[in-house]
Amino acid sequence: MVQINPSILSADFARLAQDAERVAGQDGADWLHVDVMDNHFVPNLTIGLPVVESLSRATATPLDCHLMIEEPDRWAPQYVEAGAGSVTFHAEAAAAPVRLAREIKAKGARAAMALKPATPIEPYEDLLPELDMLLVMTVEPGFGGQAFLDIMLPKIRRTRQLIEKHGLEMWLQVDGGVSAETIERCAEAGADVFVAGNAVYGTDDPAAAVRMLRQQAEE
Ligand code: DX5
Ligand code: ZN
Repeated sequence: MVQINPSILSADFARLAQDAERVAGQDGADWLHVDVMDNHFVPNLTIGLPVVESLSRATATPLDCHLMIEEPDRWAPQYVEAGAGSVTFHAEAAAAPVRLAREIKAKGARAAMALKPATPIEPYEDLLPELDMLLVMTVEPGFGGQAFLDIMLPKIRRTRQLIEKHGLEMWLQVDGGVSAETIERCAEAGADVFVAGNAVYGTDDPAAAVRMLRQQAEE
């Protein structure tokens, strides 16, 4: 099942509720992707807990919070309390990823782990059963609108093979440079959850962009 998660990093931060509404409804966004950046883990700063809390009350679309922050062990559970339906922490930043994934799930959200482009999947093979989703970054995290890194396709493929090898139900997400030009390659490599910022909110008709991306991923 293909899922399309528009990233509000490319939306208007002064109109988040309206921009969430623009992609909501039938055939619309499955999740809203919320990029939390702390200017330490990545060289950019976005939003935090209070905005996630308000946004979760303002939209019926569930929130997929991607934490590009240091000390996720301390912060991630609070994003569940703020209303996130899925919380993604970075493997490079987590001190105790298994404990953290279990805590996120115990609080009632889906638990996901993200890998920066230079982080291999292989050391994390035994952790996969603890996760509801694995995120393979297809740009260096920090900014929207960057070019898709084709060299990540083999990692997507190897991750899909590991998921199958272990018979897991988990989702495989890609984030960064996903567009009409690149989404088919991601789907072919085995991704099933697609984050798109610029390709959705950079267009005049975000809802149409979501439908188009879904169609291309399903082909
Ligand atoms: C980048 C973020 C992405 C970003 C993607 O660090 O994690 O979610 O919004 O934006 P596009 O789709 O424009 O590359
Ligand atoms: Zn993201």
